[in-house]
Amino acid sequence: MKLLLYSVIILIGTSCSSDKDNYIPIENVNLEFTVPSNFPKPTYKMALNPPTEKGFELGKKLFYDGRLASDGVVSCGFCHIQDFAFTHHTHIVSHGVNGALGTRNAQPLHNMAFMKEFTWDGATMHLDLQPIIPITAAVEMNETFNSILQKLEEQPEYVKLFAEAFEDQKINTDNLLKALSQFMVMMVSANSKYDKIERNEGSVFTKEEEAGFELFKTKCASCHQGTLFTDQSYRNNGLPIDSLYNDIGRKRVTGLAEDIYKFKVPSLRNIELTFPYMHDGRLKTLSDVLDHYSNGIENSETLDPILKQNDTLGISMTPQEKQYIISFLKTLTDDDFLNDNRFSEF
Ligand code: HEC
Ligand code: HEC
Repeated sequence: MKLLLYSVIILIGTSCSSDKDNYIPIENVNLEFTVPSNFPKPTYKMALNPPTEKGFELGKKLFYDGRLASDGVVSCGFCHIQDFAFTHHTHIVSHGVNGALGTRNAQPLHNMAFMKEFTWDGATMHLDLQPIIPITAAVEMNETFNSILQKLEEQPEYVKLFAEAFEDQKINTDNLLKALSQFMVMMVSANSKYDKIERNEGSVFTKEEEAGFELFKTKCASCHQGTLFTDQSYRNNGLPIDSLYNDIGRKRVTGLAEDIYKFKVPSLRNIELTFPYMHDGRLKTLSDVLDHYSNGIENSETLDPILKQNDTLGISMTPQEKQYIISFLKTLTDDDFLNDNRFSEF
């Protein structure tokens, strides 16, 4: 199914600048954002920043440009690599400029248009604001917006693209963030085997996958809910407290004691490729993840009640059941998305 249709609306640049020497004719085409039939409504307000062909092109160029970092190397795409559903899979925690280490595992970027809040603890409430964190963080891109804008002004290609993408034609922070969002908003992953089955497009589960799906629905879907595989809540899934980073999770944002060690329930789409797992990348394989849920849960005040029912810690699963669940999880891999040239650096 084609998610993206080019509409015929052509915005022609108008009068005001037509008599100036630096007049640049604007010919920009709106990109239509089509919601897959098995998906909920997007949370991103398209009307405030409608994706256009030029805005998307600009966003993509910025996403892959090291100029957004102080060392000229660490682009967004450095930590968010398409082959691994835009994670930095070789690194347990993220690596920024000069090899500086962060404390969290880079999250996948897909279906951002459907998320209400961003990062592992929900520190950002709007996609347009999210890039401010990595751009300015000392251990990530360690740059300032003023310096980035200066670098971009010196590039004729950027001057042209900003002018084509935005009505005010300006190279400024607002437009830069909007362009990055336009790129990320279009990154919809909805063409996995699971989706094709959900939409009755002719695919069928194998016996193992089917068994795994049934187990998943009873054991995992209360948190990894719906077609996005997250209810977008913050929960403590019983990972033993890590003394190295002592990451307090959601409490960092709300300040509430009841939120300590809670992290956003992650989507499980493309999970086969987004290893290592959990907010700090502590688990290497899906098998490790299932062992955590069956035997590794640590009790604490904020442990999710679902994981300590009837005074028993964890989710009971036989080795075979774990295998079935893993088979099912692999049906969430979306090769069309992972190989979609629209999102590739080259
Ligand atoms: C040094 C590695 C690194 C770089 C560079 C980086 N990111 Fe990230 N990204 C991360 C990590 C780690 C997280 C999780 C952060 C957290 O939970 O605090 C993240 C989270 C995100 C999220 C939230 C995803 C979600 O599901 O909530 C978005 C969106 C994002 N990054 C976009 C970007 C953009 C755009 C850029 C470039 C301006 C960028 N990132 C640069 C490592 C990086
Ligand atoms: C009580 C809610 C809850 C239940 C039930 C639950 N999870 Fe999770 N899951 C979470 C949370 C919260 C995280 C993120 C924890 C963190 O990183 O600190 C997570 C993380 C994961 C991850 C790592 C994702 C990533 O991007 O790193 C996988 C894989 C996973 N869960 C699979 C499962 C499976 C399979 C089941 C059923 C056997 C399950 N979960 C049951 C809440 C839950």
